[in-house]
Amino acid sequence: MKQYNFDEIIERRGTDCVKYDGMAEAFGGKQGLIPLWVADMDFATPDFIVEALKRRCEHPIFGYTFANDAYYESILSWLEYKYEWKAERAWLTYIPGIVKGIAFALQCFTRPGDRVIIQPPVYHPFRLVPEAMEREVVYNPLKLINGRYEMDFAQLEEIIDPRCKILILSNPHNPGGVVWSRETLARLASICAKHHILVLSDEIHAELTYPPFRHYPFASVSDEAARSSISFMAPSKTFNIAGIVSSYAIVPDDKLRTTFFRFLEAGEFNAGTIFAYEATTAAYTQGAEWLQQMRAYVMDNVRYVNTYLQQHIPQIKAYLPEASFLVWLDCRDLNLPQEELVKLFTDRAGLALNDGSMFGPGGEGHMRLNVGCPRSTLEKAMSALEKVFNQK
Ligand SMILES: Cc1ncc(COP(=O)(O)O)c(C=O)c1O
Repeated sequence: MKQYNFDEIIERRGTDCVKYDGMAEAFGGKQGLIPLWVADMDFATPDFIVEALKRRCEHPIFGYTFANDAYYESILSWLEYKYEWKAERAWLTYIPGIVKGIAFALQCFTRPGDRVIIQPPVYHPFRLVPEAMEREVVYNPLKLINGRYEMDFAQLEEIIDPRCKILILSNPHNPGGVVWSRETLARLASICAKHHILVLSDEIHAELTYPPFRHYPFASVSDEAARSSISFMAPSKTFNIAGIVSSYAIVPDDKLRTTFFRFLEAGEFNAGTIFAYEATTAAYTQGAEWLQQMRAYVMDNVRYVNTYLQQHIPQIKAYLPEASFLVWLDCRDLNLPQEELVKLFTDRAGLALNDGSMFGPGGEGHMRLNVGCPRSTLEKAMSALEKVFNQK
C-alpha cells in the first residue's frame, strides 16, 4: 500500500494562492507570518487526481464538456460508502462552489427583506452573503455546554417568525468542529419543516470526520429533512482542490429541485468545468486510502497542538475538532480585547490565524487555527507562540 508523505514542505509562494500570496494584504501588509488561516491544506493534492488531470491535458482540445456517467456514479457510490446514504442521480447537480450554491439558493427562494437564520459562531459567508443580498440575518447562537457547542432549539423557536425563510447549517460545524448527531439534525429538521423554513446544509467538511464520530447528511436523517433541504457537498476541502471549484448540490424533494434546478439552468450555473468533473471522479473512485492516511496525520496534528497548549500555554484551550482540519482556540482566559488578542498572534508571535470575531457572536475571545500542514510548520508556530508567553 502506498504511503503518502504529509511531512513534505512544498513551496506555495508564487502560485497566487490566497493563503501565502494573499496573506500580506489580509494582514495589514505584514510579511513573513506563518500562514495558518485560509481553509486549504499545505499537502500535495493526491497523485491520482493530478494524474487524471494530466491525462485529460494530453488531449489538445478543451471544449464544452458535460458531466458523464462516471462523474455521477462516483458521487453516488462515495455517498453510500461514506454515509450509507443512497442518493439518486436525479437529485444531483454540479455547482461552482458552495458559497455560490448558497447564494443561488438565497436568490431563488427568498426576496430582499426575508429573514435567514444562522447559528454563530459560524463560517462568515453565512452572514455576509445574505446581508449583501439585503436579506436580514437572524442569529440562533450555539450554546457552549461543557466545552462543546450545542444548538439552542428553545431560542430557535422563539426567533422564528413568518419572515424566516431559510436556515443555513454548517454540518459539520465550522469553526466549532462539531459533528451533529442524527437526533440533533432530525430535531432541527422537524422545527424547520413545521415553519416552512428551507435548510441549506453545508457539508463541505463532512469527509474529514474523525471516528468514532459519524457524519449524517442532513437530508438523510428524516423524511422532513429530505423534504425541506438542499445539501451542498464537495471533494474540495478533503482532497485539497479548492482552486478547481468542484462542488455539487443534492435536492431530494421534487418540488424544491424543480425550482432550484430551473434557476441554475437558466443562468447555466450548473455547467461544470472539465477539470472539476475529472478531479471529482478521480477523488471519489481512488481517494479512500489517501483520505484515511491524511485524516490520521491531521488528527495527530490536532493532538500535537492540544498537548502543546496544555503543557506550555494552558491559558489557550483547543476544542478537539470532531471533523475538519480547523482547530478552534478558546483564548478567553487571556482576558484580552479582541484587537489585542489578534495582535498577540500576528504581531508578537508572527502567526496568521483567523480572528474568531469574524465568525460572529460567540467568536470573540477565540482564534481559528488551520492544522492542515506539515507537523514542522506547527512546531514552529507553537514555539513562536510560547515565546510570547515566556517573554511576558
Ligand atoms: C463551511 C464552509 N463552507 C464553504 C466553504 C467554501 O466553499 P467553496 O469554496 O466551495 O465556496 C468553506 C471554506 O472554508 C467552509 O469552511
